[in-house]
Amino acid sequence: MFKLSKLAALAVAAGAALTVQAGEVEVLHYWTSGGEAKSAAELKKMMQAKGHTWRDFAVAGGGGDSAMTVLKSRVVSGNPPSAAQVKGPAIQEWASEGVLANMDGVAKAEKWDESLPKVVADVMKYKGSYVAAPVNVHRVNWLWASSDALKKAGVAAMPKTWDEFFAAADKLKAAGLIPVAHGGQNWQDFTTFESVVLGVGGAKFYQDALVKLDDKALGSDTMKKSLETFRRVKSYIDPGSPGRDWNLATAMLIQGKAGFQLMGDWAKGEFVAAGKVPGKDFMCAAAPGTASSFTFNVDSFILFKLKDASAQKAQSDLAAAIMSPEFQEVFNLNKGSIPVRLGMKMDKFDDCAKLSSKDFVESAKTGGLVPSIAHGMAVAPAAEGAIKDVVSQFWNDDKISVADAMKKIAQAAKTR
Ligand code: GAL
Repeated sequence: MFKLSKLAALAVAAGAALTVQAGEVEVLHYWTSGGEAKSAAELKKMMQAKGHTWRDFAVAGGGGDSAMTVLKSRVVSGNPPSAAQVKGPAIQEWASEGVLANMDGVAKAEKWDESLPKVVADVMKYKGSYVAAPVNVHRVNWLWASSDALKKAGVAAMPKTWDEFFAAADKLKAAGLIPVAHGGQNWQDFTTFESVVLGVGGAKFYQDALVKLDDKALGSDTMKKSLETFRRVKSYIDPGSPGRDWNLATAMLIQGKAGFQLMGDWAKGEFVAAGKVPGKDFMCAAAPGTASSFTFNVDSFILFKLKDASAQKAQSDLAAAIMSPEFQEVFNLNKGSIPVRLGMKMDKFDDCAKLSSKDFVESAKTGGLVPSIAHGMAVAPAAEGAIKDVVSQFWNDDKISVADAMKKIAQAAKTR
């Protein structure tokens, strides 16, 4: 009797311990396309394996603008999720509101300082303490191509310069194909724009114009040439572009209907999710003129202050999982990006990822490594939003002159 009741008491105690340990994580993200959803599912699996409950808070909309609006209203109403996909300078803005949790405990235990490039670690910290966990490094300055479309049009190699790009685009047009698959949403216009600026002006110019927002650079002939080149790209898109999601643009390449797409390497996640093989079914190359540069976009999760002990435990397990070598590998294999964690083996990764990894390291030495403005890495959200709007107005309205667009961009850059 005694033994049995003791056993029962033990079982109750174990159960209680379990309920304190297992908690719920509610994770806000905008990974809803095929490749993205597969990648996010890996994190969910890992949390469930630790006994936690995953509450998916997915807000559709590439680039995350809708997700950020929803996040703000949740936090304002005093009900934040455990974690949210937020990156770059926006991390500091959230932290300065006093709503983020101090993750130094898990960061110390898991040796984050030793496992991350210092530039990345600094972005994850507020006043010296970790408030966010990074997942990956996306490269934004990529050009993707459909092998079928290139073959049909007689384009033998990926273009290395903008002149070669336009020559190839003309061939695609002549073959009755859509030269450039473009999703007409402001963040996609902006993604194309930053690659054009980088290709036309080089990394130093990009840094001056789109990171430092320097007036002289924004008013220069190089900016003029960039806007002219950007407008020229538009003449190769199809009439169905306005409002199109980025993954549907990638699908046009997968189906062989379009030749090129200028997009970050989350596009590779779509190709791969559709069973396509890089170097065979599709091609990747640095956007024209940008081979020695790398526009980086580091996805990360900010962690909110939580009251409940089990939720805090689940949150710290989530942070540890994100930075674990196992997750960094499997997530990035699906996502199209490369691990942000240092010292990871790349043998399971494809040639596009290997090129990205090599260029990431090399560009950091030569000054070619620059933050993506279109993906929230370069400037504060207010200035980014204002410049993005002007760039899209210019893209959508051929009546706006290059000179006017330059003036408006310089004005927008002053938005605080
Ligand atoms: C980027 C983000 C990527 C990908 C893409 C499309 O800003 O960093 O992870 O999700 O948007 O939504």
